[in-house]
Amino acid sequence: MERYVVRPGAALTGTVRVSGMTKNAGCKQMAAALLAPGVTTLRNMTPVADLDVMVELLEAIGATVHRDGDVVRIDAARDLVPEAPYEHVRRMRASINVLGPLLARYGRARVAMPGGDNIGSRKLDMHFAALTAMGAELDVRNGFIEARANALAGAPVMLDFPSVGATETVLTAAVLAKGETVIENAAREPEVVDLCALLGEMGAQIDGAGTSTLRVDGVPELTATEHTIIGDRIEAGTLLFACAIAGGDIVVEGVPLAHLETVARKLTAMGVTVGPAPDGIAAGAEGRRDPTDVQTLPFPGFATDFMPLAVAALTTARGTAIVTENVFDNRFVFVGELNRMGADVRTEGRHAVVRGVPRLSGAPVRAPDVRAGAALLLAGLAADGETTVLDTYPVARGYADLPGRLRALGADVHGEDDADREDPGA
Ligand code: EPU
Repeated sequence: MERYVVRPGAALTGTVRVSGMTKNAGCKQMAAALLAPGVTTLRNMTPVADLDVMVELLEAIGATVHRDGDVVRIDAARDLVPEAPYEHVRRMRASINVLGPLLARYGRARVAMPGGDNIGSRKLDMHFAALTAMGAELDVRNGFIEARANALAGAPVMLDFPSVGATETVLTAAVLAKGETVIENAAREPEVVDLCALLGEMGAQIDGAGTSTLRVDGVPELTATEHTIIGDRIEAGTLLFACAIAGGDIVVEGVPLAHLETVARKLTAMGVTVGPAPDGIAAGAEGRRDPTDVQTLPFPGFATDFMPLAVAALTTARGTAIVTENVFDNRFVFVGELNRMGADVRTEGRHAVVRGVPRLSGAPVRAPDVRAGAALLLAGLAADGETTVLDTYPVARGYADLPGRLRALGADVHGEDDADREDPGA
Protein backbone atom coordinates (compact mmCIF):
# COMPACT_ATOMS: atom_id res chain seq x y z
CA MET A 1 0.00 0.00 0.00
CA GLU A 2 0.97 3.53 -0.66
CA ARG A 3 1.16 6.99 0.72
CA TYR A 4 0.81 9.79 -1.82
CA VAL A 5 3.32 12.60 -1.94
CA VAL A 6 2.28 15.76 -3.81
CA ARG A 7 4.05 19.06 -4.43
CA PRO A 8 2.67 22.13 -6.16
CA GLY A 9 3.75 22.35 -9.76
CA ALA A 10 2.85 23.64 -13.16
CA ALA A 11 -0.75 24.07 -14.31
CA LEU A 12 -2.35 20.82 -15.51
CA THR A 13 -2.42 20.16 -19.20
CA GLY A 14 -3.36 17.28 -21.50
CA THR A 15 -6.02 14.67 -22.13
CA VAL A 16 -6.87 11.63 -20.01
CA ARG A 17 -9.37 8.87 -20.55
CA VAL A 18 -11.41 7.94 -17.50
CA SER A 19 -11.50 4.45 -16.05
CA GLY A 20 -14.55 2.24 -16.07
CA MET A 21 -16.84 2.86 -13.10
CA THR A 22 -15.83 -0.31 -11.32
CA LYS A 23 -16.61 0.59 -7.70
CA ASN A 24 -20.08 2.13 -7.93
CA ALA A 25 -21.37 0.43 -11.10
CA GLY A 26 -19.28 -2.62 -12.04
CA CYS A 27 -19.16 -4.32 -8.62
CA LYS A 28 -22.96 -4.08 -8.38
CA GLN A 29 -23.31 -5.59 -11.85
CA MET A 30 -21.08 -8.49 -10.77
CA ALA A 31 -23.62 -9.13 -8.01
CA ALA A 32 -26.47 -8.88 -10.55
CA ALA A 33 -24.71 -11.54 -12.66
CA LEU A 34 -25.77 -14.03 -9.94
CA LEU A 35 -29.31 -13.76 -11.34
CA ALA A 36 -28.44 -15.65 -14.53
CA PRO A 37 -27.17 -19.24 -14.57
CA GLY A 38 -24.36 -18.80 -17.10
CA VAL A 39 -21.28 -16.71 -17.81
CA THR A 40 -21.79 -12.94 -17.70
CA THR A 41 -18.96 -10.89 -19.22
CA LEU A 42 -18.35 -7.34 -18.01
CA ARG A 43 -15.95 -5.07 -19.90
CA ASN A 44 -14.27 -1.78 -18.92
CA MET A 45 -13.82 -3.08 -15.37
CA THR A 46 -10.74 -1.05 -14.48
CA PRO A 47 -9.06 -2.85 -11.56
CA VAL A 48 -9.57 -1.13 -8.19
CA ALA A 49 -9.26 -2.59 -4.70
CA ASP A 50 -13.04 -3.08 -4.32
CA LEU A 51 -13.00 -5.38 -7.36
CA ASP A 52 -10.75 -7.81 -5.47
CA VAL A 53 -13.22 -7.83 -2.58
CA MET A 54 -16.21 -8.48 -4.87
CA VAL A 55 -14.36 -11.32 -6.61
CA GLU A 56 -13.67 -12.96 -3.23
CA LEU A 57 -17.29 -12.49 -2.16
CA LEU A 58 -18.71 -14.07 -5.34
CA GLU A 59 -16.25 -16.95 -5.03
CA ALA A 60 -17.37 -17.48 -1.42
CA ILE A 61 -20.94 -17.68 -2.74
CA GLY A 62 -19.86 -20.38 -5.21
CA ALA A 63 -19.49 -18.45 -8.49
CA THR A 64 -16.31 -18.71 -10.55
CA VAL A 65 -14.74 -15.40 -11.56
CA HIS A 66 -12.12 -14.98 -14.30
CA ARG A 67 -10.24 -11.71 -14.79
CA ASP A 68 -8.32 -10.72 -17.87
CA GLY A 69 -7.21 -7.07 -17.90
CA ASP A 70 -10.38 -4.97 -17.84
CA VAL A 71 -12.66 -7.95 -18.56
CA VAL A 72 -14.38 -9.85 -15.76
CA ARG A 73 -16.32 -13.06 -16.38
CA ILE A 74 -18.69 -14.34 -13.72
CA ASP A 75 -19.79 -17.94 -14.06
CA ALA A 76 -22.90 -18.37 -11.92
CA ALA A 77 -24.03 -21.59 -13.61
CA ARG A 78 -23.46 -23.87 -10.64
CA ASP A 79 -25.69 -24.00 -7.60
CA LEU A 80 -24.63 -21.14 -5.39
CA VAL A 81 -24.54 -20.93 -1.61
CA PRO A 82 -26.88 -17.98 -0.94
CA GLU A 83 -24.80 -16.73 1.95
CA ALA A 84 -22.48 -13.69 2.11
CA PRO A 85 -20.00 -14.03 4.99
CA TYR A 86 -19.10 -11.12 7.27
CA GLU A 87 -15.38 -11.21 6.44
CA HIS A 88 -16.21 -9.99 2.89
CA VAL A 89 -19.26 -7.83 3.57
CA ARG A 90 -17.49 -5.78 6.24
CA ARG A 91 -14.92 -4.66 3.68
CA MET A 92 -17.31 -3.28 1.09
CA ARG A 93 -20.72 -1.66 1.17
CA ALA A 94 -21.67 -2.95 -2.30
CA SER A 95 -21.75 -6.49 -0.83
CA ILE A 96 -25.36 -5.76 0.10
CA ASN A 97 -26.06 -5.95 -3.64
CA VAL A 98 -26.01 -9.76 -3.52
CA LEU A 99 -29.17 -9.77 -1.33
CA GLY A 100 -31.68 -9.03 -4.14
CA PRO A 101 -30.21 -11.46 -6.70
CA LEU A 102 -29.81 -14.36 -4.23
CA LEU A 103 -33.32 -13.91 -2.85
CA ALA A 104 -34.77 -13.68 -6.35
CA ARG A 105 -32.95 -16.78 -7.66
CA TYR A 106 -33.05 -19.04 -4.58
CA GLY A 107 -35.94 -17.74 -2.49
CA ARG A 108 -33.57 -17.32 0.43
CA ALA A 109 -30.41 -15.42 1.31
CA ARG A 110 -28.23 -14.93 4.36
CA VAL A 111 -26.09 -11.79 4.09
CA ALA A 112 -23.93 -10.36 6.85
CA MET A 113 -25.16 -6.97 7.96
CA PRO A 114 -22.77 -4.28 6.70
CA GLY A 115 -21.59 -1.94 9.43
CA GLY A 116 -22.00 1.82 9.49
CA ASP A 117 -18.90 3.60 8.27
CA ASN A 118 -17.16 6.87 8.55
CA ILE A 119 -19.51 8.87 6.30
CA GLY A 120 -22.74 8.12 8.15
CA SER A 121 -25.13 5.60 9.67
CA ARG A 122 -26.26 4.13 6.32
CA LYS A 123 -29.43 2.31 7.24
CA LEU A 124 -31.11 -0.45 5.18
CA ASP A 125 -34.73 0.17 6.20
CA MET A 126 -35.85 1.04 2.65
CA HIS A 127 -34.27 -2.15 1.24
CA PHE A 128 -36.11 -4.18 3.89
CA ALA A 129 -39.49 -2.44 3.54
CA ALA A 130 -39.50 -2.93 -0.23
CA LEU A 131 -38.53 -6.61 -0.09
CA THR A 132 -41.18 -7.17 2.58
CA ALA A 133 -43.79 -5.54 0.34
CA MET A 134 -42.76 -8.05 -2.32
CA GLY A 135 -43.50 -10.95 -0.01
CA ALA A 136 -40.12 -11.61 1.61
CA GLU A 137 -39.70 -12.32 5.29
CA LEU A 138 -36.65 -10.64 6.76
CA ASP A 139 -34.94 -11.01 10.09
CA VAL A 140 -31.72 -9.57 11.37
CA ARG A 141 -30.22 -12.21 13.65
CA ASN A 142 -26.69 -12.64 14.99
CA GLY A 143 -25.37 -10.00 12.62
CA PHE A 144 -26.95 -11.54 9.52
CA ILE A 145 -29.90 -10.52 7.35
CA GLU A 146 -31.92 -13.70 6.91
CA ALA A 147 -34.34 -13.37 4.01
CA ARG A 148 -36.89 -15.87 2.70
CA ALA A 149 -39.59 -15.73 0.05
CA ASN A 150 -41.46 -18.70 -1.40
CA ALA A 151 -42.27 -16.57 -4.42
CA LEU A 152 -41.43 -12.90 -4.70
CA ALA A 153 -44.40 -10.95 -6.04
CA GLY A 154 -44.29 -7.60 -7.85
CA ALA A 155 -45.57 -4.72 -5.70
CA PRO A 156 -45.81 -0.94 -5.64
CA VAL A 157 -42.72 0.44 -3.88
CA MET A 158 -42.49 4.08 -2.82
CA LEU A 159 -39.02 4.95 -1.56
CA ASP A 160 -38.82 7.65 1.16
CA PHE A 161 -35.61 8.90 -0.47
CA PRO A 162 -34.15 8.06 -3.92
CA SER A 163 -31.56 5.71 -2.41
CA VAL A 164 -29.13 4.22 -4.92
CA GLY A 165 -28.69 1.02 -2.92
CA ALA A 166 -32.40 0.48 -2.22
CA THR A 167 -33.30 1.07 -5.88
CA GLU A 168 -30.68 -1.51 -6.91
CA THR A 169 -31.94 -4.07 -4.38
CA VAL A 170 -35.55 -3.69 -5.52
CA LEU A 171 -34.58 -3.85 -9.21
CA THR A 172 -32.58 -7.04 -8.81
CA ALA A 173 -35.36 -8.69 -6.81
CA ALA A 174 -38.19 -7.48 -9.07
CA VAL A 175 -36.73 -8.73 -12.35
CA LEU A 176 -37.52 -12.36 -11.40
CA ALA A 177 -40.63 -11.64 -9.27
CA LYS A 178 -44.12 -12.60 -10.42
CA GLY A 179 -45.94 -9.58 -11.82
CA GLU A 180 -45.20 -5.86 -11.95
CA THR A 181 -43.16 -3.79 -9.51
CA VAL A 182 -43.42 -0.02 -9.77
CA ILE A 183 -40.66 1.85 -7.94
CA GLU A 184 -41.59 5.47 -7.22
CA ASN A 185 -38.95 8.00 -6.16
CA ALA A 186 -36.29 5.72 -7.67
CA ALA A 187 -32.65 6.78 -7.88
CA ARG A 188 -31.69 8.26 -11.30
CA GLU A 189 -27.90 8.00 -11.06
CA PRO A 190 -26.12 6.89 -14.28
CA GLU A 191 -24.89 3.79 -12.43
CA VAL A 192 -28.53 2.76 -11.78
CA VAL A 193 -29.29 3.35 -15.47
CA ASP A 194 -26.29 1.16 -16.35
CA LEU A 195 -27.57 -1.61 -14.06
CA CYS A 196 -30.96 -1.37 -15.83
CA ALA A 197 -29.12 -1.69 -19.15
CA LEU A 198 -27.33 -4.87 -18.03
CA LEU A 199 -30.55 -6.36 -16.65
CA GLY A 200 -32.35 -5.49 -19.90
CA GLU A 201 -29.62 -7.25 -21.88
CA MET A 202 -30.18 -10.28 -19.63
CA GLY A 203 -33.86 -10.27 -20.65
CA ALA A 204 -35.42 -8.24 -17.85
CA GLN A 205 -38.39 -5.98 -18.65
CA ILE A 206 -37.65 -2.54 -17.17
CA ASP A 207 -39.17 0.79 -18.23
CA GLY A 208 -38.22 4.28 -17.10
CA ALA A 209 -34.46 3.95 -16.47
CA GLY A 210 -33.11 7.41 -15.63
CA THR A 211 -36.49 8.65 -14.36
CA SER A 212 -38.02 8.57 -10.88
CA THR A 213 -40.50 5.84 -11.81
CA LEU A 214 -39.21 2.39 -12.74
CA ARG A 215 -41.63 -0.28 -13.95
CA VAL A 216 -40.36 -3.82 -13.79
CA ASP A 217 -42.32 -6.72 -15.25
CA GLY A 218 -40.94 -9.90 -13.73
CA VAL A 219 -39.79 -12.66 -16.11
CA PRO A 220 -39.32 -16.36 -15.25
CA GLU A 221 -35.59 -16.38 -15.98
CA LEU A 222 -32.67 -14.30 -17.17
CA THR A 223 -29.82 -15.17 -19.51
CA ALA A 224 -26.13 -14.40 -19.02
CA THR A 225 -24.88 -11.64 -21.32
CA GLU A 226 -22.00 -9.26 -22.16
CA HIS A 227 -21.96 -5.65 -21.06
CA THR A 228 -19.56 -2.69 -21.07
CA ILE A 229 -19.54 -0.61 -17.86
CA ILE A 230 -19.93 3.17 -18.15
CA GLY A 231 -17.01 5.56 -17.71
CA ASP A 232 -16.44 6.74 -14.14
CA ARG A 233 -18.16 10.11 -13.71
CA ILE A 234 -16.70 10.46 -10.21
CA GLU A 235 -13.13 10.01 -11.44
CA ALA A 236 -13.93 12.49 -14.25
CA GLY A 237 -15.29 15.01 -11.75
CA THR A 238 -12.23 14.50 -9.57
CA LEU A 239 -9.96 15.45 -12.47
CA LEU A 240 -12.10 18.50 -13.28
CA PHE A 241 -11.76 19.65 -9.66
CA ALA A 242 -8.01 19.00 -9.90
CA CYS A 243 -7.95 21.48 -12.79
CA ALA A 244 -10.01 23.95 -10.72
CA ILE A 245 -7.44 23.74 -7.92
CA ALA A 246 -4.15 23.56 -9.83
CA GLY A 247 -5.23 25.60 -12.87
CA GLY A 248 -4.57 24.61 -16.47
CA ASP A 249 -6.40 23.23 -19.50
CA ILE A 250 -7.47 19.60 -19.60
CA VAL A 251 -9.76 17.23 -21.46
CA VAL A 252 -11.35 14.25 -19.73
CA GLU A 253 -12.53 11.62 -22.20
CA GLY A 254 -14.88 8.69 -21.85
CA VAL A 255 -17.76 10.29 -19.95
CA PRO A 256 -20.58 12.51 -21.27
CA LEU A 257 -21.12 16.02 -19.91
CA ALA A 258 -24.73 14.92 -19.17
CA HIS A 259 -23.36 12.81 -16.29
CA LEU A 260 -21.71 15.89 -14.76
CA GLU A 261 -24.08 18.78 -15.56
CA THR A 262 -24.41 20.05 -11.99
CA VAL A 263 -20.69 19.72 -11.34
CA ALA A 264 -20.05 21.68 -14.53
CA ARG A 265 -22.47 24.40 -13.39
CA LYS A 266 -20.79 24.70 -9.99
CA LEU A 267 -17.31 24.78 -11.53
CA THR A 268 -18.52 27.51 -13.87
CA ALA A 269 -19.78 29.49 -10.87
CA MET A 270 -16.29 29.09 -9.39
CA GLY A 271 -14.80 30.68 -12.51
CA VAL A 272 -13.73 27.50 -14.31
CA THR A 273 -14.50 27.16 -18.02
CA VAL A 274 -16.23 23.84 -18.66
CA GLY A 275 -17.71 22.53 -21.90
CA PRO A 276 -18.15 19.49 -24.08
CA ALA A 277 -15.17 18.05 -25.96
CA PRO A 278 -15.20 15.22 -28.52
CA ASP A 279 -16.07 12.14 -26.39
CA GLY A 280 -15.66 14.04 -23.14
CA ILE A 281 -15.39 17.27 -21.21
CA ALA A 282 -12.91 20.16 -21.45
CA ALA A 283 -12.01 22.40 -18.50
CA GLY A 284 -9.76 25.45 -18.10
CA ALA A 285 -8.89 27.48 -15.00
CA GLU A 286 -6.45 30.10 -13.81
CA GLY A 287 -5.99 32.12 -10.63
CA ARG A 288 -8.16 31.74 -7.53
CA ARG A 289 -11.70 30.39 -7.50
CA ASP A 290 -14.85 32.44 -6.92
CA PRO A 291 -16.86 31.29 -3.90
CA THR A 292 -20.20 29.58 -4.55
CA ASP A 293 -22.53 27.69 -2.22
CA VAL A 294 -22.92 23.97 -2.80
CA GLN A 295 -25.53 21.53 -1.59
CA THR A 296 -25.50 17.84 -2.25
CA LEU A 297 -28.55 16.04 -3.63
CA PRO A 298 -29.35 12.80 -5.42
CA PHE A 299 -28.76 12.81 -9.21
CA PRO A 300 -29.14 15.04 -11.17
CA GLY A 301 -28.19 17.22 -8.20
CA PHE A 302 -24.64 17.79 -7.02
CA ALA A 303 -23.50 14.33 -5.86
CA THR A 304 -22.30 13.85 -2.29
CA ASP A 305 -19.20 12.14 -3.72
CA PHE A 306 -18.02 15.48 -5.11
CA MET A 307 -18.62 17.40 -1.89
CA PRO A 308 -15.11 16.92 -0.38
CA LEU A 309 -13.60 17.94 -3.74
CA ALA A 310 -15.72 21.10 -3.81
CA VAL A 311 -14.67 21.95 -0.25
CA ALA A 312 -11.01 21.48 -1.24
CA ALA A 313 -11.48 23.84 -4.21
CA LEU A 314 -13.27 26.44 -2.06
CA THR A 315 -10.56 26.54 0.64
CA THR A 316 -8.57 28.97 -1.50
CA ALA A 317 -11.51 30.84 -3.07
CA ARG A 318 -11.74 34.65 -2.96
CA GLY A 319 -14.46 34.68 -0.29
CA THR A 320 -16.76 32.51 1.81
CA ALA A 321 -19.04 29.67 0.72
CA ILE A 322 -21.49 27.43 2.55
CA VAL A 323 -21.49 23.73 1.72
CA THR A 324 -24.48 21.63 2.80
CA GLU A 325 -24.40 17.83 2.89
CA ASN A 326 -27.93 16.43 2.50
CA VAL A 327 -27.24 12.78 1.69
CA PHE A 328 -24.98 11.34 4.41
CA ASP A 329 -24.99 12.42 8.04
CA ASN A 330 -21.27 12.32 8.80
CA ARG A 331 -19.29 13.24 5.71
CA PHE A 332 -17.26 16.20 7.04
CA VAL A 333 -14.67 14.13 8.95
CA PHE A 334 -11.94 15.17 6.51
CA VAL A 335 -12.33 18.88 7.28
CA GLY A 336 -9.96 18.62 10.26
CA GLU A 337 -7.24 17.36 7.92
CA LEU A 338 -7.81 20.26 5.48
CA ASN A 339 -7.58 22.70 8.37
CA ARG A 340 -4.20 21.17 9.27
CA MET A 341 -3.15 22.39 5.81
CA GLY A 342 -4.15 25.95 6.74
CA ALA A 343 -7.75 25.90 5.46
CA ASP A 344 -10.46 27.77 7.37
CA VAL A 345 -13.47 25.44 7.39
CA ARG A 346 -15.97 25.22 10.24
CA THR A 347 -18.74 22.65 10.37
CA GLU A 348 -22.07 22.77 12.14
CA GLY A 349 -24.26 19.72 11.59
CA ARG A 350 -24.92 19.36 7.87
CA HIS A 351 -23.20 22.65 6.97
CA ALA A 352 -19.63 23.74 6.44
CA VAL A 353 -18.58 27.35 6.23
CA VAL A 354 -15.52 27.58 4.00
CA ARG A 355 -13.62 30.87 4.26
CA GLY A 356 -11.16 31.13 1.41
CA VAL A 357 -7.51 31.70 2.33
CA PRO A 358 -4.89 32.80 -0.21
CA ARG A 359 -2.87 29.59 -0.03
CA LEU A 360 -2.74 26.25 1.82
CA SER A 361 0.47 24.82 3.20
CA GLY A 362 1.52 21.21 2.69
CA ALA A 363 1.25 18.81 5.64
CA PRO A 364 0.95 15.10 6.39
CA VAL A 365 -2.75 14.17 6.34
CA ARG A 366 -4.80 10.94 6.52
CA ALA A 367 -7.35 9.75 3.95
CA PRO A 368 -10.52 9.09 5.97
CA ASP A 369 -12.56 7.75 3.03
CA VAL A 370 -12.31 7.37 -0.73
CA ARG A 371 -13.45 10.82 -1.90
CA ALA A 372 -12.06 12.74 1.07
CA GLY A 373 -8.68 11.13 0.42
CA ALA A 374 -8.85 12.29 -3.20
CA ALA A 375 -9.81 15.79 -2.03
CA LEU A 376 -6.78 16.00 0.27
CA LEU A 377 -4.52 14.89 -2.56
CA LEU A 378 -6.00 17.59 -4.79
CA ALA A 379 -5.59 20.22 -2.06
CA GLY A 380 -1.89 19.41 -2.06
CA LEU A 381 -1.66 20.42 -5.74
CA ALA A 382 -1.93 24.07 -4.76
CA ALA A 383 -0.41 24.02 -1.27
CA ASP A 384 3.04 25.41 -0.51
CA GLY A 385 5.58 22.66 0.16
CA GLU A 386 4.96 18.94 0.31
CA THR A 387 1.71 17.21 1.26
CA THR A 388 1.75 13.52 2.21
CA VAL A 389 -1.56 11.66 2.17
CA LEU A 390 -1.24 8.66 4.48
CA ASP A 391 -3.39 5.52 4.79
CA THR A 392 -4.56 5.69 1.18
CA TYR A 393 -6.28 2.27 1.00
CA PRO A 394 -9.74 3.93 0.93
CA VAL A 395 -8.68 5.91 -2.16
CA ALA A 396 -7.43 2.77 -3.93
CA ARG A 397 -10.84 1.17 -3.31
CA GLY A 398 -12.43 3.49 -5.86
CA TYR A 399 -9.66 4.98 -8.04
CA ALA A 400 -7.41 2.82 -10.23
CA ASP A 401 -4.33 5.04 -9.93
CA LEU A 402 -5.23 8.59 -9.02
CA PRO A 403 -1.61 9.76 -8.66
CA GLY A 404 -0.86 8.32 -12.12
CA ARG A 405 -3.87 10.07 -13.66
CA LEU A 406 -2.76 13.39 -12.19
CA ARG A 407 0.84 12.76 -13.28
CA ALA A 408 -0.43 12.21 -16.83
CA LEU A 409 -1.71 15.80 -16.66
CA GLY A 410 1.66 17.09 -15.45
CA ALA A 411 1.12 17.10 -11.68
CA ASP A 412 3.98 16.37 -9.29
CA VAL A 413 2.44 13.40 -7.45
CA HIS A 414 3.83 9.99 -6.65
CA GLY A 415 3.08 7.00 -4.48
CA GLU A 416 5.44 5.53 -1.85
CA ASP A 417 5.14 2.36 0.22
CA ASP A 418 3.12 2.71 3.39
CA ALA A 419 2.00 0.36 6.18
CA ASP A 420 -1.07 -1.79 5.47
CA ARG A 421 -4.47 -0.73 6.70
CA GLU A 422 -8.11 -1.45 5.93
CA ASP A 423 -11.25 0.62 6.28
CA PRO A 424 -14.94 -0.22 6.37
CA GLY A 425 -16.83 -0.05 3.08
CA ALA A 426 -18.14 3.09 1.41
N1 EPU B 1 -30.59 5.34 3.48
C1 EPU B 1 -31.50 5.01 4.47
N2 EPU B 1 -32.14 3.80 4.38
C2 EPU B 1 -31.90 2.91 3.38
C3 EPU B 1 -30.96 3.25 2.36
C4 EPU B 1 -30.31 4.48 2.45
O1 EPU B 1 -31.75 5.79 5.39
O2 EPU B 1 -32.52 1.84 3.36
C5 EPU B 1 -29.91 6.63 3.56
C6 EPU B 1 -28.40 6.47 3.77
O3 EPU B 1 -28.11 6.30 5.14
C7 EPU B 1 -27.85 7.74 3.20
C8 EPU B 1 -28.83 8.07 2.05
O4 EPU B 1 -30.00 7.29 2.31
O5 EPU B 1 -27.92 8.74 4.16
C9 EPU B 1 -28.30 7.75 0.67
O6 EPU B 1 -27.92 6.41 0.58
P1 EPU B 1 -27.87 5.60 -0.79
O7 EPU B 1 -28.57 4.31 -0.55
O8 EPU B 1 -28.32 6.44 -1.92
O9 EPU B 1 -26.31 5.35 -0.95
P2 EPU B 1 -25.53 3.99 -1.06
O10 EPU B 1 -26.21 3.11 -2.05
O11 EPU B 1 -25.25 3.44 0.29
C10 EPU B 1 -24.03 4.75 -3.07
C11 EPU B 1 -22.55 4.84 -3.32
C12 EPU B 1 -21.99 6.02 -2.58
C13 EPU B 1 -22.72 7.27 -3.04
C14 EPU B 1 -24.23 7.11 -2.78
C15 EPU B 1 -25.06 8.29 -3.25
C16 EPU B 1 -21.73 2.65 -3.72
C17 EPU B 1 -21.00 1.46 -3.22
N3 EPU B 1 -21.88 3.64 -2.88
O12 EPU B 1 -24.17 4.50 -1.67
O13 EPU B 1 -20.63 6.11 -2.97
O14 EPU B 1 -22.24 8.38 -2.31
O15 EPU B 1 -24.69 5.93 -3.46
O16 EPU B 1 -24.88 8.47 -4.61
O17 EPU B 1 -22.16 2.69 -4.87
C18 EPU B 1 -18.43 6.83 -2.82
O18 EPU B 1 -18.23 6.32 -3.91
O19 EPU B 1 -17.63 7.60 -2.26
C19 EPU B 1 -19.67 6.52 -2.10
C20 EPU B 1 -19.83 6.66 -0.80
